[in-house]
Amino acid sequence: MNQAQASNCRHLIHPWADLSVSTTQKKLIIAKAQGIYIYDETGKSYIDGIAGMWCVNIGHGREEMADTIAQQIRTLDYYTPFGDVTSPPAIELAETLAKRSPLDLNRVQFSCSGSGAVESAIRFSHYFFKSQGQDSKRHIISREDAYHGSTYLTASLSGKKVDKTHFHYIEDFVHHLPSPNYLRFGNEFNESEDVFFQRQAQYLEDKILQLGADNVACFIAEPILASGGIIIPSIEYHRTVRDICRRYGVLYISDEVVTAFGRLGELFTSQVLFELEPDIITVAKGLTSGYIPMGATLISDRLFEQISGSRAGKTPYFTNGFTYSGHPVSCAAAIKSLEIIEKENLCYHVKEVGPYFIQALKTLEQFDSVGVVRGMHLMACVEFRIGKHKGLATDRDIDFARKVDELCEIAGLIVRPYENLCILSPPLIINKAEIDIIISIIENSIIKVEKEIM
Ligand SMILES: Cc1ncc(COP(=O)(O)O)c(C=O)c1O
Repeated sequence: MNQAQASNCRHLIHPWADLSVSTTQKKLIIAKAQGIYIYDETGKSYIDGIAGMWCVNIGHGREEMADTIAQQIRTLDYYTPFGDVTSPPAIELAETLAKRSPLDLNRVQFSCSGSGAVESAIRFSHYFFKSQGQDSKRHIISREDAYHGSTYLTASLSGKKVDKTHFHYIEDFVHHLPSPNYLRFGNEFNESEDVFFQRQAQYLEDKILQLGADNVACFIAEPILASGGIIIPSIEYHRTVRDICRRYGVLYISDEVVTAFGRLGELFTSQVLFELEPDIITVAKGLTSGYIPMGATLISDRLFEQISGSRAGKTPYFTNGFTYSGHPVSCAAAIKSLEIIEKENLCYHVKEVGPYFIQALKTLEQFDSVGVVRGMHLMACVEFRIGKHKGLATDRDIDFARKVDELCEIAGLIVRPYENLCILSPPLIINKAEIDIIISIIENSIIKVEKEIM
C-alpha cells in the first residue's frame, strides 16, 4: 500500500462504507478529471459512466466553470444569507430557476445538498400547514426503494432496505408505500403493468385514509426512482397519484435531485415528462453539475402567498436555512452550468443520444445472465438475473453484478454497483462512439463472468 492509500485507511471515513474493513481495504483514488474521463492516482483513465454521482452533467474540467468560480471569489467570496441579507448571484439564480421551473414554482430556497433541499421541502410543508392552523398535518408518505438523502430525516424518508442499518429512523410520522417496481414485484400476483400500477396508486389513497387526510402533510417521490434501481412508474400511476394528493389536500414534493437539468432531456421533468403538478420540487447535483455543492427547493407561489398574505408580520419566522444557503460561489457556478447546458443545447443532445444509449444497452438482454435493461435517456441500469429467472434477486445475481462491475473498472469504465444492478448515468456530453465503448466494455465483462460462473 502506498502512502496515500495508507493514510486514507488510517484517517478518512468514506460515505457509505463498510467500516469493518475500511481500515485495510485499498480504495480508488481519483486524482484528475476531464470531459467524460477520470484518472486515478497512477494516471489510469476511466470513462465516468456515472457522471461523478449523477451530477457532472456538463462533463469534467470546464475552464469556463473554473474562471467563473475564481472570478466570483475575487468579487464576493461569502457573506451571511440570513434574514435581510443576500447577494447578487443568489438573486440571479433564484430568478433563473423560477423562469425555467414549471407551473407557479417561483419561490426558491437554497441549501448545500440534495438532502438539504429535501429537508427544507419537508420543513416548509410542516411550517405551511401550521401557518394555516392545520397543526395535525404532519405525516409524510414516501416509498420503499426511494432515496432522498443522508440526514436523519431524509434517510428516514428513504426506503432502500439495504440502507436501513444500525440506526433509529423516524417512524412516528414517516410512512412508506411498497416499491412501484413492476419487474420485481409485478410477478408476485401475475398482474399486467396497468393493474400493478393501479394497485400501487391505490396504496397511497389507502394510506391517506388510514392516517386521516387531516393528518397527512405531503407525499414525496422521485419521478424515476434513481438509486433504488431506475424504477420507472407508468404515466397513469403518476396521474392517479397526482389526483389523489390534490383530492386530499396532500402536498406533492417531486424530488428531482437526479432527474433535473438534462439527464432526461429536459431542465425539469415533473410536468413535461410525467404530467405531475408538484407543489414543491427539490434539486441539487446537476444544478451546479457537481462543481460546487448546492441544493434548492422550489415552492409554489400559491402556498407562499397563503403564508405571506393575510397575517403580515405576525407569522413566526421560517427558521430554516444554512450558513451556506445561496453561497455566492455556488450560485455563480450554477448560473454558469445552466448557461452551458442551454448554450450547448445539451437537452437536445440528450434526446439524440439517449434513445441510442438505451437501445445499445438493450442488446445486452441477449445474455442469459441479464434479466432486463431499463432506463430513459441517460439514466439506465442492467439488471442481472442468472437464467432470466423472475422474482427477487438471489445472492448469485448480486455476486454476478459485483464481478461485472469490477471487470468494467479494470477495463476502464466506472459504473455504479447496487445489489444485482449495474447503474449508468454518464455526463450529458457523451457521444455515440463513446456509448459504443461503454457497451463493449460491459459486454466483454459479462462474457467473462458468464464463462467463470455459468
Ligand atoms: C433523488 C435524490 N434525492 C436526494 C439525494 C440526496 O442528495 P445529497 O447526497 O446531495 O444530499 C439524492 C442523492 O443521491 C437523490 O438521488
